[in-house]
Amino acid sequence: MISRAKRLDRIPPYLFGEIAAAKRKAVAEGKDLIDLGIGDPDRPTPPDIIEELNRAAHDPITHRYDESPAGDPIFLEAVADWYRKRFEVDLEPNSEVLLLIGSKEGLAHTAWTFIDPGDISLVPDPAYTVYKVGTWLAGGEIYPLPLKKENGFLPVLDEVPPEVANKAKLLWLNYPNNPTGAVASQAFFQRAVEFAHRYNLLIVSDLAYSECAYDGYRPPSILQTEGAKEVAIELHSLSKMFNMTGWRIAMAVGNGEALSHLNKLKSNVDSKQFSAISRAAAYAIRHGDNSETIELYRHRRNILVAGLQSLGWPVEPPKATFYVWTPTPSGESSIAFAKRLLERAGVLVIPGIGYGDYGEGYVRMSLTVPGDQNGERLNEAVKRLEATVPYR
Ligand SMILES: Cc1ncc(COP(=O)(O)O)c(C=O)c1O
Repeated sequence: MISRAKRLDRIPPYLFGEIAAAKRKAVAEGKDLIDLGIGDPDRPTPPDIIEELNRAAHDPITHRYDESPAGDPIFLEAVADWYRKRFEVDLEPNSEVLLLIGSKEGLAHTAWTFIDPGDISLVPDPAYTVYKVGTWLAGGEIYPLPLKKENGFLPVLDEVPPEVANKAKLLWLNYPNNPTGAVASQAFFQRAVEFAHRYNLLIVSDLAYSECAYDGYRPPSILQTEGAKEVAIELHSLSKMFNMTGWRIAMAVGNGEALSHLNKLKSNVDSKQFSAISRAAAYAIRHGDNSETIELYRHRRNILVAGLQSLGWPVEPPKATFYVWTPTPSGESSIAFAKRLLERAGVLVIPGIGYGDYGEGYVRMSLTVPGDQNGERLNEAVKRLEATVPYR
């Protein structure tokens, strides 16, 4: 028998076995599934970005290792210019920007960079699972920060016991939020920055969804907060911004000392990204326009939310992200409800328990719907739910 490292035992079992089995069965029976499960842009990357990749890939200089200290300077400078334009935040491209191979990679390696065995991470619950699993893989412990509706799905930092906060190394935040769709104000970021100063910990702000926002809303960066750069790094990604999930390109910005630690770890485990991708990403950041996709998400959001509301579901339209976070009927578990939606209506959603204990009582519906052109699959989903799944 080949024995594996014990740290892998800390990765929790796959929770969606029942849902995955129900999905396989529905597909095998030839059922027409409406997939609101996966959060992955269904529209292609805008064509001018692909053309830029093509151009860069023909330049042999991009075929070799990227030996720059923190990523292709063309990319780092584009990121710094964008932060100045978009958020009025000044970044020194050589020390305050770091190229990542997708923000998932950056988040996982951030845990490895700052967490020693026994250290504590303050992790929102529900949340994107990498914050928690990354901490566990590094041997650390998590202290969950419940995200509750009555608090706007923001953590109440004053409820963290001081003895826990004193031991904590990292505070993970993600606004606009996956899976709740919640957004944070600058006043909240101010409180978080004060908390980080008080307890001498590093904030890791995951801003992956800042450009998926609707109706004129512009999500802030934590780095706009006074004193933030002393205690925070922020991770951002081209994945959701320009429909580039498969390209694997992202950035970490903010506190230069923290980034140099992350870079020390990374430079020993990866060799950055294909420079042609870094260059096309720089082009995207400077010139890309993904407004048509955002308008499509907005249109789908309006169809889904209005449709569910007309059926008596207590849902609210998210201001940002492409997720609709939907309460289950009272007393029904998120897995049971997701299974009912799948088996009766052929509508696939993600049970909230998969994002943490405080995700129980919710399911996540994604507006990135494979096969949908202009909202017709969402209209169809609402019609099917009306016919087959009473909300009770
Ligand atoms: C909150 C959040 N952060 C980070 C990521 C990872 O994005 P990527 O690794 O594609 O940059 C995701 C992906 O779904 C996410 O939802």
